Amino acid sequence: MKTLFLSLIALLLNADGAYEKGKELYIKNGCYSCHGTKLEGLHRYPYLANRAKGYMKYKLERFRSKLSDNQQQEMMIPFAVGLSDEDIENLAVYMNEYVEDTNKERYDDSYQVHGDGGS
Ligand code: HEC
Repeated sequence: MKTLFLSLIALLLNADGAYEKGKELYIKNGCYSCHGTKLEGLHRYPYLANRAKGYMKYKLERFRSKLSDNQQQEMMIPFAVGLSDEDIENLAVYMNEYVEDTNKERYDDSYQVHGDGGS
């Protein structure tokens, strides 16, 4: 009984930490440079916020196994090969449960979507 109780606590603590760990991995691995700091995506880079956890895991596992369906997706392989099962789980939790950080003190990172068209 005591063991069951302890493992339940461990499970709860782990479930709590997964989001934060996933967030850390997302930043550390530079995922934001393509998928955005708000997981909003950009151009050909898909948005990842609140996407189905199972699908996110499936895709990351595929990329880790160096499998892709097209040339565009091959870009993901170098970013997935170094991930452990635990990393993928934590990242999937973070993407699935993502809530925008509304801390008003934060630097406002909104940007102009309309460029000057180049010159
Ligand atoms: C260099 C740019 C780049 C970086 C950095 C990057 N990705 Fe991607 N990501 C892509 C591209 C391109 C695709 C494939 C889009 C497509 O299917 O056309 C993709 C696809 C994905 C998908 C599948 C989404 C879908 O709709 O099928 C997931 C999940 C994902 N990336 C997560 C991550 C995570 C987590 C990281 C950091 C570890 C990361 N990406 C880093 C470019 C990038």
